Amino acid sequence: MIIMNNIKCVVSSTAQFDTATMARTAAILVLFVGLAAAYPTNDPILGKWSPGLRYDYMEDDSGSVHLVDNWLKLSDYEKLARYNPDASNRYHLFTRQNPSISQPLVLNNAGTVTSSNFNARRRTIVLMHGFAGSVTSGFNTVLVPAFLAAGDVNVIVLDWSAGSAWGPRAIQAGQAAGRFITWLNRITGATPNTYHIVGYSVGGHGAGIMARTVSGNVGYVTGCDPADRWDTAWLFRPSDGLYTEVIHTNGGDIGYLNPLAHVDFYPNGGRTMPGCMTSLCHHYRSYYYLGESLRTGGFTGRRCANLNQALSGTCNASGTLRLGGLEPKTGNSGIFHLVTNPLAPFSRG
Ligand SMILES: *[C@@H]1O[C@H](CO)[C@@H](O)[C@H](O)[C@H]1NC(C)=O
Repeated sequence: MIIMNNIKCVVSSTAQFDTATMARTAAILVLFVGLAAAYPTNDPILGKWSPGLRYDYMEDDSGSVHLVDNWLKLSDYEKLARYNPDASNRYHLFTRQNPSISQPLVLNNAGTVTSSNFNARRRTIVLMHGFAGSVTSGFNTVLVPAFLAAGDVNVIVLDWSAGSAWGPRAIQAGQAAGRFITWLNRITGATPNTYHIVGYSVGGHGAGIMARTVSGNVGYVTGCDPADRWDTAWLFRPSDGLYTEVIHTNGGDIGYLNPLAHVDFYPNGGRTMPGCMTSLCHHYRSYYYLGESLRTGGFTGRRCANLNQALSGTCNASGTLRLGGLEPKTGNSGIFHLVTNPLAPFSRG
């Protein structure tokens, strides 16, 4: 029945799309004719996504390399105008009752929630993958079972793969997910302070954006090595949740080097990780450390007086704090350093 509805839906929306597409194509054609006279190219440059090189290689989270154009062209704005994350975001619920086969939660379809295993009395974890990622990204396959092992929680995997081939769309995808959580809370009575939103790479900033979009204060937000090439207006912020934490593992390369949260951890100095030979491997380690912290704890950080101490591993301020974990460490702030093993188990205690 659901499959039948989906097919029907696709057919009818395609029919509507044809008329709309024709009208839009005509409008764009007129625009192009006008612009062609003024610009040497028929796809004018309207801005730059990030300073530096126009073309840059970016690795997705399965290790494939993509050539990314950092300049914003007219066609990018057209694609962005067409991108509708409220419709294309997918939400997959995992609980201890269904640890390996997800239940879809659909915005504005309360039946998908009431017939699912979602329980508003539990903590709810929301996971946001990175550039060109998907439900089966390592970030999700590591963290879904780790969270379910650590506690009787709802885990919602956000699939924003419809937009993730263009990193900046993490902003729109995160905002749409924030609206989804507000809706979910309205129909279930769940409260924002019981949420833990976790994102990786561009999804690291997206997790912050998601949390600040939710109506009310999200309890716990974690950024796993938030991306470096990112609009400074849309960075992860300490105020995104009641407690926010960032784990820096490839800072200054794929990841962001400077502190972003209430608490910033710089394992092994935050730039390169032992046991890794590639940038992507350093970057991945952020969610492996989080996953291990959920299962077995450990990762005791030493407080640093400043960022330089964290980067050079010379922290001598007093106090310690454990990285990650299931519960927010609300009230803590600062910069922390720790040393890991090159292979799992990564924690040295
Ligand atoms: C930490 O080390 C720095 C540099 O050696 C030193 O100036 C500072 O007094 C030390 N702080 C503490 C709390 O030991």
